[in-house]
Amino acid sequence: MPATILVGAQWGDEGKGRVADWLAAESDIVARYGGGDNAGHTVYVGDQVFKLHMVPSGILHERVVCVLGNGMVINPVNLVKEIEHLAQMGVPVEPARLLISARAHLITPAHIALDRASEQARGSQAIGTTLRGIGPAYLDKTGRRGIRAGEMLEADRFAERLRDAIKSANQTLAAQGMEPLDVEQAVEPYCEAAARLKPYIADTAVFLYERLRAGARVLCEGAQGTLLDVDHGSYPFVTSSSPTAGGALTGLGIGPGAVDRVVGAAKCFSTRVGSGPMPTELHDEVGDRLRGTGEHFWDEYGTTTGRPRRCGWLDGVMLRYAAAINGFTELVLTKLDVLSGFTALKLAVAYRLDGQTLAFPPAAAEALERVEPIYETLPGWQENLSQARQAADLPEAALQYIQRIAALCEVPVSAVSVGPERDQLVRF
Ligand code: IMP
Repeated sequence: MPATILVGAQWGDEGKGRVADWLAAESDIVARYGGGDNAGHTVYVGDQVFKLHMVPSGILHERVVCVLGNGMVINPVNLVKEIEHLAQMGVPVEPARLLISARAHLITPAHIALDRASEQARGSQAIGTTLRGIGPAYLDKTGRRGIRAGEMLEADRFAERLRDAIKSANQTLAAQGMEPLDVEQAVEPYCEAAARLKPYIADTAVFLYERLRAGARVLCEGAQGTLLDVDHGSYPFVTSSSPTAGGALTGLGIGPGAVDRVVGAAKCFSTRVGSGPMPTELHDEVGDRLRGTGEHFWDEYGTTTGRPRRCGWLDGVMLRYAAAINGFTELVLTKLDVLSGFTALKLAVAYRLDGQTLAFPPAAAEALERVEPIYETLPGWQENLSQARQAADLPEAALQYIQRIAALCEVPVSAVSVGPERDQLVRF
């Protein structure tokens, strides 16, 4: 059973890009199953830094075929830009190496304008979206009026569908007192992008079915994270898709029997961009230190939006919840090196709410705002970990921290990263 699902176990930005890059080396196909260019995956290869938003990082491995699954929402103009950027960096993306599901939905200029309008209308209750049009595109999908990638194959009809979508969005924008879009100006670059992307469009579900039957190893690459899942996350402060393991099945059209490994990626501390509850958030010098400064490579600033990330101690309650929701078979922890230099580390192991102790987070965001984390304190370490390559290279306190996380989630930790480079990984 050759499919592996890689899922972010927190609020996104867990370092999935580098974990995916590692797992891709053992895969034939890497397939993205949800979200769009709200994601930002950074991969360091030598002195090159690749920042990918839609194309899976598997593209950096020459023999890997990449798939953009039906569960995604794709901005065709930005996808063409990404393909061109990769080509400039020496990674040509031929149609044989990137398949776009004909069933994936498209993000139009109307969606981007409506995302902004919706955030403005929410005022102080804004979600803090990436303003990439993600929510409105999924809204059109479930409203059964979305435009799908396969429609790019018929140029005239595609242009007409786009015009209609933009005209309809203009009515909503006008009602909110916002500037309408110039229809033809908005449509033109999309039609150009559609012409470029035609050769990439395929029935990816059938492709995956046939390749899995032939024994190909498929990595299903998640974007965002469990706590941003529209069902299981801190609703309404979530994205509009299902980044959890279940989303991989619907987002690619594969059955559960094809999957034998579910890898959870988690940072060794907590971060979040955008609004919404974050029980272990710190507003002190520890939070600043976890965020890093301009001199440190671990800068906690969003890859897509550049916003500073909110930082705090690792939330073991959320991690245990993510393990439960996704059925992780293993955990990969990233950025262990960032924790060097603390005398003690705190780890949230339960929440207190209205006099009760909770082992899992409450469903309502309002209740989650009020929980008080119950911390366990573990010894820290001073050693620089960047050269560690095996368990024996890690200080006892670091091993103890890892073991405690594994015990809390009842999931083994299979690897930890100790720096951004491909080889800065300790496998257990
Ligand atoms: P949207 O996906 O742009 O609608 O944004 C909804 C929420 O998800 C916001 O809080 C975003 O900051 C967050 N979000 C979306 N994509 C990512 C990601 O790739 N990493 C981290 N947060 C994300």
